[in-house]
Amino acid sequence: MKLVNNQSGYSTGLPSILFAITLLCSSVTAAPSNSTTSHKSDPCAAIAGKTTATFHEAKACLDHFPYNETIASQTLDTVRKVTKELYVFNEIATSPPKVEGLSAVPVDIHHGLDVIQHEKWQSDREFQESVALLLDKVHDTHLVYSPFCYRQFIFWQPIQLNALVRDQKSVVNVAYVKNDIWPDAKESWVGCEVTQIDDKNAMDMIVNYAVNNNGESKDVNTCFNNIMNTKTYFHGWDDGADDLGYHRFLPAQEMHSYTMRCPKKGTSPAQEEFDDPFTVQVPWVAQVPNNFNDATSYWNNYCQSSHTAYAKRGAIGHLDVEELRLMHEGQAFDLSPEAARNAAAGGARGPYVEFIALDKPQADVGVIDIQSFSIQSGDRQDFIDTFYSGLKEFESKGIKKIILDLSSNGGGDACAGEFIINTFFGSTPDYPSDIKYSPFLERVIKKAIAIPGTKWSDYKNDKYKDAEWFTQTNTYTRGKEQVKFSQPVSLSCDRWESELTIDKDKKTPWKAEDLLILSDGRCGSTCAIVASRLRISHQVAAMGLGGIRGNRMQFASFPGGESERLSGFLMDLQQLDLQDDPDAPRPFPERADMGWTFREAYRPTAKGAEMGKETELLEYSVNNADCRMHFDDENADNVKKLWSDVAQVFTSGQCPLIKD
Ligand SMILES: *[C@@H]1O[C@H](CO)[C@@H](O)[C@H](O)[C@H]1NC(C)=O
Ligand SMILES: *[C@@H]1O[C@H](CO)[C@@H](O)[C@H](O)[C@H]1NC(C)=O
Repeated sequence: MKLVNNQSGYSTGLPSILFAITLLCSSVTAAPSNSTTSHKSDPCAAIAGKTTATFHEAKACLDHFPYNETIASQTLDTVRKVTKELYVFNEIATSPPKVEGLSAVPVDIHHGLDVIQHEKWQSDREFQESVALLLDKVHDTHLVYSPFCYRQFIFWQPIQLNALVRDQKSVVNVAYVKNDIWPDAKESWVGCEVTQIDDKNAMDMIVNYAVNNNGESKDVNTCFNNIMNTKTYFHGWDDGADDLGYHRFLPAQEMHSYTMRCPKKGTSPAQEEFDDPFTVQVPWVAQVPNNFNDATSYWNNYCQSSHTAYAKRGAIGHLDVEELRLMHEGQAFDLSPEAARNAAAGGARGPYVEFIALDKPQADVGVIDIQSFSIQSGDRQDFIDTFYSGLKEFESKGIKKIILDLSSNGGGDACAGEFIINTFFGSTPDYPSDIKYSPFLERVIKKAIAIPGTKWSDYKNDKYKDAEWFTQTNTYTRGKEQVKFSQPVSLSCDRWESELTIDKDKKTPWKAEDLLILSDGRCGSTCAIVASRLRISHQVAAMGLGGIRGNRMQFASFPGGESERLSGFLMDLQQLDLQDDPDAPRPFPERADMGWTFREAYRPTAKGAEMGKETELLEYSVNNADCRMHFDDENADNVKKLWSDVAQVFTSGQCPLIKD
């Protein structure tokens, strides 16, 4: 739904990775602009300086850079090392447990990488995207390959859709049109029902797309919500890359056809009086980045990595820590100094949390809208103080029930989540988690204990000293293999508690039954762990929002445990002087980053003999919401109305906790 890290396309339901690759190969051939002779051989120059370009113009520029086997094999080498040595779900992904409600198709990452290596790609872009697609198929948002070179254009469908329940039926609706990028888009289409897309039933097409082309989650309802738009419900986390109508990567086709029926003038859609249906062909429009003049400068500004001496195998040469830092701090799309200034000034960071008291007749209900747990260290005390003062105000206003809106929250600092739970419940159990063992990571952790400053020395197990929690391994079955893991660890929030003013004896008047989790399923990572603790350990009921009607829906997704990114990991290696370790992943030869889950988190029931079982992993188990709400014509565009509808259901006792 929204914008932050990026990830891409195709996925499940398809028998194999090969299918996705074939799709890429067979995508439409470029027809470069030929208007001026000088641009004939430089399709990037042909669109430089323009605000928008057509699909074919953008494709010609992106496909201008030839496939290079050296770059490909260096890239694959790094992805192989990271997935093999560090990605906790590498083995289970090949043969995931069959759990009702989870759409986890088997993905053999290493076989997939071999297939990609042996393919002759038409362009560097096709190669890079095939790597991104492969990882996407695992349906773990933490596992991602982002080739920034091919994430600079933003592709829009000028029609943005949402899904509503209208007159008891599930319909696809035009939420808004973008006439600033395509003059043919008509404002009057807003509110029209879309009955067909590309000559298929519109809802079927979208569900299909959610199942097959979206790697956000193992819950298809969450994928469905991710690809749809709701205009005003645009808060919190925005991954931007893989919506139905909004991509950071080149779309698979040039345009889509939409068949619409619009309410007759003066009638509301629910009255079902329509003008004659009509079909429009809607192109993908590319928003052109502005920091290049031609192919050479495009490459230099967006693709060329500044890590040098890469060619010498075994020697890392100069690792550009500044570039890693920029990438790590989220300046993924453009590393120019100008972009850095804009990012610094841009206030892209919204509020982390807002307290909203609802109006009559729900004046005794408050909403805590928690948009992100990615609290910057300098903002922590402010976050805590905002939380306390918000609760105080709720108390003085006589708020009896609280909706915790965790929709579209991509996670962040686990201690921020723990702080919130502790504020309501005094304390919260630790969920056990472990880290995959490898001799390489043993060297990292041992060194980290000697040289403080990296997070690798922060993990603890009370029974083991020094690095023994890591070296005294447990062997568990994952998929068809036996895999070694560390002892269960927890990440201590001591630092939060020692450095910040927290009222540990705080009492609030609200009990579990006075709280309700509201989630569109796009509550991931730390958010997922917070929501799971609230629901499983503290018995707070959860309401699912949106998704596919008639499907049970989970309230959280990708609860993996903890994610890491190559840029950050390499900076840690540099700090520990381990960048030249023979097993260390090399930086990507082109500007790119990858992310992965490196800690697997278990359900709180994973104790004794259950510890270590793959079915106890949060990532591979199902946590369904207790009740459900769908968008309708009135609340899809009005978040206060939505909250008021939720409050109505909640206060009338219609969302009781379902005992599992
Ligand atoms: C493209 O330009 C070349 C040389 O200017 C010309 O010969 C050719 O016919 C043009 N092709 C198209 C499709 O316009
Ligand atoms: C491929 O990339 C490498 C590393 O950037 C470069 O040295 C080499 O010249 C490239 N090969 C071709 C054929 O362009």
